[in-house]
Amino acid sequence: MIDFRSDTVTKPTPDMLQAMMKAEVGDDVMGEDPTANLLQEKVAALLGKEGALFVPSGTMANHVSIRAWTEPGDEVILHKLSHTYLYESAAAAALCGVQLSLREGDRGILNPNDVAEAVHDAQRDHFPRSRVVMVENTHNIGGGSVYPVEVVKEISEVAKKKGLVLHMDGARLFNACVASGVEPQDYARHADSISICFSKGLGAPVGSAVAGSKEFIKRAHRFRKMFGGGMRQIGYLAAAAIYALDHNIERLAEDHENARLLAEAISRLECFRLDLDAVETNMVFFDVVAKDLDALRVVAMLRQEGVLMGTITNRRIRAVTHLDVSREDVLKAIEVFEKLFSERKT
Ligand SMILES: Cc1ncc(COP(=O)(O)O)c(C=O)c1O
Repeated sequence: MIDFRSDTVTKPTPDMLQAMMKAEVGDDVMGEDPTANLLQEKVAALLGKEGALFVPSGTMANHVSIRAWTEPGDEVILHKLSHTYLYESAAAAALCGVQLSLREGDRGILNPNDVAEAVHDAQRDHFPRSRVVMVENTHNIGGGSVYPVEVVKEISEVAKKKGLVLHMDGARLFNACVASGVEPQDYARHADSISICFSKGLGAPVGSAVAGSKEFIKRAHRFRKMFGGGMRQIGYLAAAAIYALDHNIERLAEDHENARLLAEAISRLECFRLDLDAVETNMVFFDVVAKDLDALRVVAMLRQEGVLMGTITNRRIRAVTHLDVSREDVLKAIEVFEKLFSERKT
């Protein structure tokens, strides 16, 4: 099977497993896991922040951050297609007690003026207290789109002026960095808190981190425990994350090239519509325009031929490239697409 469903499906390589086996470990709830501590120092340095905290998932990274910045009844401003709104089991409501203010924006990218307009007057008790602006970089459902760093800067200036903080969901921050040439620190300097994931394009089996000021990390640490994310001998997992940071960032460029190769081939088929300009990183979104097909049917046909992809709507399909999809795999997948769909009309 050639698995384009997500970049979360990768399995650790033998070298990563070796690094995990050799890890020194301790009880991390007691702050005594040397490898987790090393990872946290490494992430803080990489992002230019005072501290960082290892957490089990991107979802927890976002919610310890939201909870650390807010009180129940506060409001978080974010894009209407953000992962936190669509795919995190309403944790913002259930765990943090906050309201989400959903905004528009081309391909997942918020507009600074729109953010400014969304902020409520803090003096009026009728309104929720606007507290956090959240940006997702790259933006998943926006198409793997890269936030222009100047837009992040403008949004952070709006936030600061109005007394809000900016949290960046950087589950795929390194895809954004590799695609844009912007250094991780140069994105992170505009964020009061920032999350990254090791278990997506970077190929680790588990784990994410949040980074920010010492004070923020202290609060996030408390909520990590409260949300059930205090783990014990996690050095084995932290070692995989360290390996991923050391070995798997630059190679994301290959995933981006593979995504483009696949996208170019799909864009030539009449039964699909694909905007090549929208393919910026490792994600390829395309729509089924043939009347006698829909996304589920296409995905089922591909599966029969050993190619896995995911549906977003009944017309929209997403394919994601990653460490476990080689260029040869992409070429094979292209052959499958051509065999199945080159004769199909709209
Ligand atoms: C942009 C974004 N943020 C957060 C997450 C959540 O990560 P996890 O699945 O580790 O909870 C994902 C997962 O795919 C994501 O794409």
